[in-house]
Amino acid sequence: MQLLQSPRGTRDILPEQQPVWQFCLDTARKVAEQMGYLPISTPTYEEIALFERSIGEGTDVIDKELFLVRGRKSEEESYALRPEGTAGLVRSYLEHGMRTWPQPVKLYTILNCFRYERPQKGRYREHFQFDFEYFGEKGAFADAWVIYTGWRFYQALGLKNIGLSLNTLGAATERAAYSQKLVAYFTPLKQQLSQDSQDRLAKNPLRILDSKDPIDQEKKQGAPILLESIGEESKRHFQEVQNYLKTWKIPFEINPHLIRGLDYYSHTTFEWVARGREGSQDSLGGGGRYDGLLTILGGQDGGAVGTGIGLDRTVEEIISQGLAENFHLLAPQIVVLSGDHGIHSQAQEVIEELYQQGFWLDTYLGKESLASQMKSAGRSGARFALIIGADEATANQIAVKDLRSGKQELVPRSDLIRHLRVQFAHA
Ligand code: HAM
Repeated sequence: MQLLQSPRGTRDILPEQQPVWQFCLDTARKVAEQMGYLPISTPTYEEIALFERSIGEGTDVIDKELFLVRGRKSEEESYALRPEGTAGLVRSYLEHGMRTWPQPVKLYTILNCFRYERPQKGRYREHFQFDFEYFGEKGAFADAWVIYTGWRFYQALGLKNIGLSLNTLGAATERAAYSQKLVAYFTPLKQQLSQDSQDRLAKNPLRILDSKDPIDQEKKQGAPILLESIGEESKRHFQEVQNYLKTWKIPFEINPHLIRGLDYYSHTTFEWVARGREGSQDSLGGGGRYDGLLTILGGQDGGAVGTGIGLDRTVEEIISQGLAENFHLLAPQIVVLSGDHGIHSQAQEVIEELYQQGFWLDTYLGKESLASQMKSAGRSGARFALIIGADEATANQIAVKDLRSGKQELVPRSDLIRHLRVQFAHA
């Protein structure tokens, strides 16, 4: 029978790939908690309406990429797998009355997200994000804080050549007015646009600006500039964000065409990119301000800004910058062997004591012969093998073999832990 494979666009992260992933996840948790974010987890699936209302109908994520789920027998109930983290966190913030907590409330989560995309390198149907959100403040400092958090994360990973593209969409009303200007500009050019951009003209005209299709590039050049269409208040907010970033020495470029694929943003939007790997999959993370989403989802008016960092692409970047070589699976320190079934109970006691004392251990007692156990011990990377034979057990001794030098010595059972500690202290 043919072996089954993981579904298209999903991957197994195998043991040898885990250390670099764990490093990335541990770093994310550490940076977030060091910077005042509280951990939270939300469900993998939510009401479809949550995503439709927040991310917006007319976006690719909703119209083309949503994974729908329902129980086998409950035809009326249907849900969607989360395509991102923000909507769920906002829902949770509102549902649990976090507006009444002392503000700001900063939350972070590490989550898997599902988008029915055409898979390719760096683009998966299940991907992972480090998502952090800052609720309860409308001022520019909050925008700068989430950008600073992302910057601290990339720095803590040791990544080089990380760039930041920055833009503002202005207030929601300014964004809507600008959208009308774009429609007026692009409508006479409609036939000359790519098919995707023609569709966007009706559904989501701003997205024409971040089209990567070569057909659209020339037409985009003459389009009205958003930054020139926004009011003084919005300009001041954007300038303040930049001032904070300059003080923290976070390099950035203003990209007036940075629109982003989700509808909930107003004011600041940004994307983290791997410089030198420019292309459609170069976005390592992105985010922005989305105050309006709180009221759209039934809450009171308030501030909200956040970031989603793509961990699959971040891990790929760590590897391509040659930083993954330091990460390996940890070998056991000690392996416990015994070829004699009659004294397995003594071996079990030794294992229990080693474990209690905090040693990293493994054992091959499940294998029949001592010879095959020794073979596994040799491959394990462990420093010492403890060999428990019938004669040694009678004499209350254990043979300790240094697997590097091959030297073996008999150690009294009562002295075993002290002996091992001395050996490791000198290793
Ligand atoms: P997003 O730009 O859609 O934003 O996704 C954030 C990051 O997730 C991307 O920059 C990318 O690195 C990664 N990503 C997205 N789709 C895929 C995929 N199919 N395969 C691999 N990686 C992918 C959001 O999701 C917003 N919720 C960010 C946010 C948080 N805005 C405010 N708060």
